[in-house]
Amino acid sequence: MSTLVTGIAELVTHDPSLGTLSDAALVVDDGRVAWVGSASAAPAADERIDVGGRAVIPGFVDSHAHLVFAGDRAAEFEARMSGVAYDGGGIASTVAATRAASDDDLRARLRGLVAEMRAQGTTTVEVKSGYGLTVDDEARALRLAAEVTPETTFLGAHVVPAEYAERRDAYVDLVCGPMLTACAPHARWADVFCEPGSAHAFDGDEARAVLTAGRAAGLDLRVHANQLTAGPGVRLAVELGAASADHCTHLTDADVDALAGGTTVATLLPGVEFSTRSPYPDARRLLDAGVTVALATDCNPGSCFTSSMAFCLALAVHEMAMTPAEALWSATAGGAAALRRTDVGYLGVGARADLAVVDAPSYRHLAYRPGVPLVRALELGLG
Ligand code: NIG
Ligand code: FE
Repeated sequence: MSTLVTGIAELVTHDPSLGTLSDAALVVDDGRVAWVGSASAAPAADERIDVGGRAVIPGFVDSHAHLVFAGDRAAEFEARMSGVAYDGGGIASTVAATRAASDDDLRARLRGLVAEMRAQGTTTVEVKSGYGLTVDDEARALRLAAEVTPETTFLGAHVVPAEYAERRDAYVDLVCGPMLTACAPHARWADVFCEPGSAHAFDGDEARAVLTAGRAAGLDLRVHANQLTAGPGVRLAVELGAASADHCTHLTDADVDALAGGTTVATLLPGVEFSTRSPYPDARRLLDAGVTVALATDCNPGSCFTSSMAFCLALAVHEMAMTPAEALWSATAGGAAALRRTDVGYLGVGARADLAVVDAPSYRHLAYRPGVPLVRALELGLG
C-alpha cells in the first residue's frame, strides 16, 4: 500500500541532498519514505493525501520524558512560583503515588500522555522509569513503557528513596545489582540523576558506578547532567561514551570542550528552566563549539509538565538564541542522534514515514506563533 502526500507548501527533509523543498510531494510505501520531490514530478500511488498547502516536517523526536507516574504536584509548582527553589525533593511524593497505583492506572496515564504528544507532532518518545525505586516497581514501569516505545530507560538512580536515606551505598548497590538485573530485559538505556547539588540525587562516583553497571548489563547510557550546578555529570557522560548528556544548564569551559571532543549529544530541556524559573542553557556556546544539540521536553510531574515539543522549540528560539531552523533540527534530527536512531528525525528515502503537518505555510510558524497548536502527526492509515 503506497500513499502520495501532496499539497506540501514546504517540506523540511533534513536530508542533506534534498534540503527544504517548496511545492513538494512525498510517497510513503510500507511505512517508509519511498520518494521525495517536486509535486509536479510525483509518481502515482495507491492512495493520495492532500495536506492543503501546509508545511510538513519530520515528526518530533522527544528523547527525554518521564511518563510512568501517578499523582499530582500542582501544589509544589505553585510553591515554586512563590519562590521555593526546585531541588528534586518533590520526586518523593510522585514515588509514593506511583508505588500505590495499579498497573491500569499507570498505563492509562502513560498512554494518555503519549497520545497527547502525538497530537502535537511527536512520533518518537523515550520513556524513563524512576518513580518506583524498588526492584518490582522499576521493572513494572519499564514493562509498561515498553508497551508504547522501544526507547525505554532504566532510571532506578533517579533519587535515593527515603527508606535508604541513611544508607546511600546500599541503595546504589541495589540499583547496580538486583534492580538492574530485573530491569535490563525491558530497557534499552541506563540513566542517572548526577547532581551533587541535590541531596536527593547522585554524586559523580555514585553515577559512575550506576552507569558502569548499566553498560555491563548491555544498556547504552544517557545522563541527567549539570541541571542545578556545574557538577561532574557532563564529563562523565562523555568519558563513558553516553549517547546524551541531558540538561547541560550549568557548563564550565571543560564541559563544553569535552562535549566538543566527544560523541555525546547535549540535550537541552528549556521547558525545565521555564517551569523552574532558572537560567536557560547556553545553546549558542554549544553550537558554536560544534556540539550536536538536541531539544526535548523532559515531560514529568515535577520540573516540567509539558508534552509540547513545539513549545520547547519556541523557547529555544525566543530564549536561547537558536534560529528556527536550528531548533527544528534539534527537536527532530538532534533527538534522533541522542537516541542513536538513523531511521527518524529526517524525511529522506528510507526513513520511517513519521510525518508531522504544520497548519501554516512554513515551519517558521512553530516559533513565530508560540503556544498556538499548529502541529500534529500525520496519520497515514498504514497500520
Ligand atoms: O529531569 N532532574 C531530575 N529528574 C527530572 C525531574 C523529576 C521530577 O521532579 O519529578 C528532570 O528534571
Ligand atoms: Fe528528566
